[in-house]
Amino acid sequence: MLKTTTLFAVGLAGCVWTHAATAADPSYTRSLAATCFTCHGTDGRSVDGVPPSLAGLNRDYLLKQMQDFRDGKRPATIMHQHAKGYTDEQLALIAGYFAAVSPGRAAAAPAPR
Ligand code: HEC
Repeated sequence: MLKTTTLFAVGLAGCVWTHAATAADPSYTRSLAATCFTCHGTDGRSVDGVPPSLAGLNRDYLLKQMQDFRDGKRPATIMHQHAKGYTDEQLALIAGYFAAVSPGRAAAAPAPR
């Protein structure tokens, strides 16, 4: 009995550790933020501001907008659906990512051949 409990505790500690390591992993955070790049531009620098650029916005502002979209407090055409796919922890990581990016113009697309 004691052995089972000990094994369980070790296993649980392992899960908690793994989870914490994942959350702090920059490539995990960037892969979450990358789901936004299609519309908001690479690293949140959108082309001509449509939809708005996210790069360099305030972290708390970004997090609040995502929570408001998710909770139906801010009307939207797309974002209310998209915001529902993330946990609060993931939204905080995404907001932190875009807040840390310097604002700027989107890189020019390659010329068509
Ligand atoms: C399919 C395209 C699409 C994707 C993907 C997308 N967005 Fe949006 N986003 C929009 C549109 C369109 C708007 C304008 C509001 C609306 O109509 O939904 C918007 C608005 C926003 C706003 C409000 C900006 C402001 O100035 O207040 C935030 C914040 C935002 N998106 C964050 C995100 C984040 C973070 C992700 C990734 C997790 C993301 N979006 C993914 C299309 C998208």
